[in-house]
Amino acid sequence: MAGYTVAVVGATGLVGRTMLQVLEERAFPTGELRAIASARSAGQDVPFQGRLHRVREISADAFSGVDVALFSAGGGTAREWAPVAAAAGAVVIDNSSAFRMEADVPLIVPEVNAHALVDAAPRIIANPNCSTIQMVVALQPLHARYGIRRIVVCTYQAVSGAGKKGVDQLHAEREGKNAAVRAFPHPIAGNVLPHIAAFDDDGFTTEERKMIEETRKIFEDPRILVSPTCVRVPVDTSHSEAVHVELAAPYDLADVRSMLEDAPGVIVIDDPESTAYPLAMNAAGRDEVFVGRLRRDPSAENGLIMWVVSDNLRKGAATNAVQIAEVWKARREQENGASPA
Ligand SMILES: NC(=O)c1ccc[n+]([C@@H]2O[C@H](COP(=O)([O-])OP(=O)(O)OC[C@H]3O[C@@H](n4cnc5c(N)ncnc54)[C@H](OP(=O)(O)O)[C@@H]3O)[C@@H](O)[C@H]2O)c1
Repeated sequence: MAGYTVAVVGATGLVGRTMLQVLEERAFPTGELRAIASARSAGQDVPFQGRLHRVREISADAFSGVDVALFSAGGGTAREWAPVAAAAGAVVIDNSSAFRMEADVPLIVPEVNAHALVDAAPRIIANPNCSTIQMVVALQPLHARYGIRRIVVCTYQAVSGAGKKGVDQLHAEREGKNAAVRAFPHPIAGNVLPHIAAFDDDGFTTEERKMIEETRKIFEDPRILVSPTCVRVPVDTSHSEAVHVELAAPYDLADVRSMLEDAPGVIVIDDPESTAYPLAMNAAGRDEVFVGRLRRDPSAENGLIMWVVSDNLRKGAATNAVQIAEVWKARREQENGASPA
């Protein structure tokens, strides 16, 4: 069968299922699909290209002959199995944080730094954290034109960012029940939690650390200052962010607006008079990053404030991973001068 052999590891999860949809929607040339998960869900079926595919348990054999392995099964699974898949000849695109900060692992958001994927030899490529992806897509044109000195960002993150158990906890609590497995340390229905992942000795969470470190790696500028507070809110899908940025040079607000309107993957919705601004509800199911509430920040030199919203399961995870696969495919076909047999 013509096309690449594609493995989706974590195919039963929220991101994995979305990957299957996105591979299909974007017509990634998939000759054979390997749907992989843990022993818990081996034997289940997942839909892809109009038929059901049997989920198999992860094993070394499962990666034999695989060209592209999309991992969305957590850091532990990635650390154990991504090297196995890469050794079997696959290019691994991993959604976990396991390899993101390794110097020889490219951390890619195609609209921002596709150039960092320098060659197409099989190895591991990392997909950034969902909150970071949408922020850097919105900031890329500003960074390219003016340079960015400092970012202060507060996130409002959906429960689906914590996987299936996050959604299950919110839905159970909405019905007045206790979730079988809790994703959060407090109730999330009717609540706002200033706590995503573990706290470190300085009082930051690992989610906040990811926004600091990954932003610098993607923009290839370790001097950028990032001050994040990451917050979980009782929303099913889409992360929202209030982004306060200090640019390195004076800017014209109309120019910024028109740069953002022309930026790949960005849609500007910014007409506050008619209550038009990006909303989590409207971004769900979409692949773009939505930007609005653009205004000068009079409290900072060259300061600008914006509201940035995107679907965490799509652009924050599955769509970005499939876009990386598309960049890899283009590089590989350029090098080999051919499509797969
Ligand atoms: N949710 C988001 O918005 C988001 C955004 C960016 C990145 N990510 C990352 O993507 C990954 C998956 O997130 P998710 O939200 O899809 O979580 P999820 O809904 O909980 O799904 C987890 C998936 O991983 C599989 N898995 C777990 N342990 C495994 C093991 N030992 N071997 C093989 N498969 C295993 C599960 O399979 P079983 O059905 O067999 O348990 C399931 O398919 C995580 O690394 C997460 O950090 C998530």
